[in-house]
Amino acid sequence: MLKRTHNCNQLGTEHVGQAVALAGWVNAYRVQGNELIFVDIRDREGLTQLVFDAEDASKELLDEADKLRNEFVIAASGVVRKREGGVNPKLATGEIEVVVKELEVLSASSTPPFLPSEGEKSKLPREEIRLKHRYIDLRRPSMQKILKARHRVTKVVRDYFDEQGFLEIETPILCKSTPEGARDFIVPSRNQAGSWYALPQSPQLFKQLLMVSGCDRYLQICRCFRDEDPRADRQAEFTQIDCEMSFVDRDDVINMMEGMVRRVFKEVLDVDVPKLEQMTYREAMDRFGIDRPDRRFGLELIDVSDIAAKTDFKVFTEALGKRHGCIKAIRVPGGVEKFTRKMTDGYSEFVKQFGAGGVPTVKVNAEGKPETGIARFIEGVWDEIAERTEAQPGDMILFGADSRTTCLKAMGELRLKIANDLDLIDESKWDFLWVVDFPMFEYDEEGGRFYAMHHPFTAPVEDQIEAFLAADPGDIDTIEGIVSAGYDIICNGSEIGGGSIRIHNQKVQSKVFELLGMSIEEAKDKFSFLLDALQLGAPPHGGIAFGLDRLTMHLVGTDNIRDVIAFPKTQTGGDLMTEAPGTVSQEQLKELHVREVEAEE
Ligand code: AMO
Repeated sequence: MLKRTHNCNQLGTEHVGQAVALAGWVNAYRVQGNELIFVDIRDREGLTQLVFDAEDASKELLDEADKLRNEFVIAASGVVRKREGGVNPKLATGEIEVVVKELEVLSASSTPPFLPSEGEKSKLPREEIRLKHRYIDLRRPSMQKILKARHRVTKVVRDYFDEQGFLEIETPILCKSTPEGARDFIVPSRNQAGSWYALPQSPQLFKQLLMVSGCDRYLQICRCFRDEDPRADRQAEFTQIDCEMSFVDRDDVINMMEGMVRRVFKEVLDVDVPKLEQMTYREAMDRFGIDRPDRRFGLELIDVSDIAAKTDFKVFTEALGKRHGCIKAIRVPGGVEKFTRKMTDGYSEFVKQFGAGGVPTVKVNAEGKPETGIARFIEGVWDEIAERTEAQPGDMILFGADSRTTCLKAMGELRLKIANDLDLIDESKWDFLWVVDFPMFEYDEEGGRFYAMHHPFTAPVEDQIEAFLAADPGDIDTIEGIVSAGYDIICNGSEIGGGSIRIHNQKVQSKVFELLGMSIEEAKDKFSFLLDALQLGAPPHGGIAFGLDRLTMHLVGTDNIRDVIAFPKTQTGGDLMTEAPGTVSQEQLKELHVREVEAEE
């Protein structure tokens, strides 16, 4: 086999006259009369033009070149010369070509289902076809670029944490279930009939136990598995940058992790990330209706509950009669011109999926007075609303009226939708922030029970630990008011990481289990190893996990998580290339003590 001397992106005018050899795929070919055959050869790094010139080449060589087709794998040697047919400024190698003396076909290709040469996005085949032939899709330069960026991120992350004294330690894949809130993937045990492993939703408990082991600073770039429906930014199998530190408080972890983010953005994108702001959960919810605000545009939610209470508009008064009822307004500057009737009607439909009844609106006319929609119901308090919302002629004001939870959810989602519809998001901006001071628990009115807002191993903030231990489990208001030492890091409205200071006191941990409705026996059955460890010398500790896939999505500028994973799964959790998941034989099932039952319709 001809051994290459350069890659396909390396040669320039300084190599003119040199004998070189290249290897790669036929990206394109064109025949010019009987004299010349041009072949673009492609590898991971780029493209180079090969030329078979009747003046230099034998008839056999020309015949061989004539048989080349797209995606044949070839090696070619020859001499570099300045391009005779004009420079191609779009290519790094665009000033030269290689006049081929020897050609080797290393592997022929049948007609590929699509060509990986890069075109407009619209020319790409359907994603299913790309996923079925992922090895061809990954040949595309833009996919190669993403794989390289992802490699770069993990390299920078490993270097950073290594410098900071973190040890990379692997934790098991065959585990006992760890509650991160999703459904587990489970694996039957052959040796222990009737017992099952769970694949890790995260290495949470192992990393905490590593702190009890005295490992001090832990890192793992690890695969996590959550059997939940995939979304644009969520896969059932994904990768975390998982960290834990001993003898730290919240600010220590936040500072260490910000350092990593700063290093990654600088080295991968040459973007300087400033010191990150922190916002409380309460403020994020009040102003943006969501715990991962995107501040690259305005349209903040404005509370007008006190003013709305002075009207007798039924929609407002009924909402305010609910537990924690509230009225929020969004002012859309110039909305009168920008919105069509269809759009505003559409918004009323849109919010119904979040349990809201609709979106009352008013237009602000040229005199600065309310018109149409619910204008007549709020005329009496208009001056106050106008002042609070800073309404200007031509603006549109949209209202949300419901229980606090429903109102915030609906208005938060509506805010994002309007920003997308009106193209208000400044894509050139980076918006990072920490969201802190989450409640420890959310109370589910319907189920009459608490859920852990992050996970059950997150500690209350230090000055509330005593109050937490003393709280009566039936006192919903007090329990709802306990603030956790958790933190999420948000980038452009997406949660790229989340973590907390952990509970390192057995009594606190047992109380959390109790509040989550776990009996002492159940807690011992599931977590005796943790409860024991917490009594055998557990240092104060805390950590975080970043979503590597999500972080990479931001760095490469895609909104599809499948783009940053070499072999991703589809919406239904399938791998279209290998056709996983597949069936197994009856013998395999028997060995595993598993019997199949008919799938329910
Ligand atoms: P959490 O569940 O918040 O915390 O996950 C941490 C980060 O992982 C990413 N992530 C996902 N990415 C892609 N697909 C998914 N299905 C998915 N789920 C989560 C997100 C998220 O911010 N053990 C804790 C961390 C800790 O407390 O240290 C945990 O897993 O970017």
